[in-house]
Amino acid sequence: MKRIQAPRGTYDVLPHLADERAALERTAAQILGRAGYGRIETPVFEATHLFARTVGEATDVVQKEMYTFADGSGDSLTLRPEGTAPVVRAYLEHGMHKEPQPVKLWYLSSFFRYERPQAGRFRQFWQIGAEAIGSADPAVDAELILLLGELLEAIGASKVRLVLATLGQPESRAAYREELIAYLRKHEDQLAPEVVARIDLNPLRAFDAKHEATQRVMADAPRLIDRLPQEDLDHFAEVQDLLRAADLAYTVDTTLVRGLDYYTRTLFEFQSDALEAAQNTLGGGGRYDGLAEAIGGPPTPGMGWAAGVERMLMASTQSPPTEPPVDIYVAYEPAHKAAAFRLAADVRRTGGSARLELAGRSLKGQLKQASRSRARYVAIFGDEGVQLRDREGGEDKLVAPETVMHHIRGRL
Ligand code: HAM
Repeated sequence: MKRIQAPRGTYDVLPHLADERAALERTAAQILGRAGYGRIETPVFEATHLFARTVGEATDVVQKEMYTFADGSGDSLTLRPEGTAPVVRAYLEHGMHKEPQPVKLWYLSSFFRYERPQAGRFRQFWQIGAEAIGSADPAVDAELILLLGELLEAIGASKVRLVLATLGQPESRAAYREELIAYLRKHEDQLAPEVVARIDLNPLRAFDAKHEATQRVMADAPRLIDRLPQEDLDHFAEVQDLLRAADLAYTVDTTLVRGLDYYTRTLFEFQSDALEAAQNTLGGGGRYDGLAEAIGGPPTPGMGWAAGVERMLMASTQSPPTEPPVDIYVAYEPAHKAAAFRLAADVRRTGGSARLELAGRSLKGQLKQASRSRARYVAIFGDEGVQLRDREGGEDKLVAPETVMHHIRGRL
């Protein structure tokens, strides 16, 4: 029979990988906790509408990448492809507008997108994300950007740069889109065929084209930033002032595009040249002042980001934490198994770490395991009693089984 394997684009988190992930989680919890963010966990699946209405019907995520299914009662559900819409849903559902604003939440969860698997791109992946809901103050934007910068610095992510942009409100964006489409139509004969084919679908993509003649046309194309109302420009200027006040370096790239439709105003990404260009975004986010309304709530500003756990670990220069040594390794001759078992249980009950032979190895084999686990003490249960060895010096002692705890307690 053909052996069953994990689905494409998924992976198992084996223990040696779990350690470095746990270290990343601790770092994130510390940085975000200090800034007043509380942890939230939302369900793995949500009503399909939630994502269709916020992430956007026309986006790749909604069009091609969602794991959508009907449950037993025929309701359409979707494995969450991202975390912002669920968090805003929870904010509204639990009346968090009554708490002091903004409400600051963070998460470490898995997400699902049917994408083409490659290095740094999976179908089930993990994100660390942070959302601040209920304030339009530019200081919220700047603080959140700073926090992701701090996290990336703390994990030693290499070759990181911050790119900023601003999008304004949907109305100015819609008007700009029409203007850009008209401009592209006027220069159609000079554009790459694939750009022409997508003029109506996604005119902004023309800015990313590698085709030289297209690039020449785009150099003079109208820019969104020149069409934004003054209040959006002021908001963006203040975000930048605050980032400069905190000494965070950035570049503004007015052509930055992100694959989700809910963004308004501030948009940003931390990219790393340590990763391949197609997957070089460690994390990013922006403001989403219209999202709550799109799912039936009152107008509520919001801002946040998410960063990929796999990509952060790939870019991190930190060596994974090593496993701490074990307090005691309990070896035994077969006749003394129960007494040995008892000691290991007693050590663990008092908060120590103990390893016990579980595979019927010879005494010699057991002692090899003991040094592999870098145990401080080794207890060998035999007919004469327990031979207790302190591997940090001192003579071997022969002691009675019931006194082992007494001998090692206080020294661990
Ligand atoms: P996103 O840009 O779609 O934004 O994803 C954020 C990060 O998740 C990416 O920069 C990347 O590191 C990681 N990521 C995304 N897709 C994959 C994948 N298939 N495999 C591995 N890693 C991936 C969001 O999801 C927004 N919810 C961020 C946000 C929060 N905006 C406002 N608040």
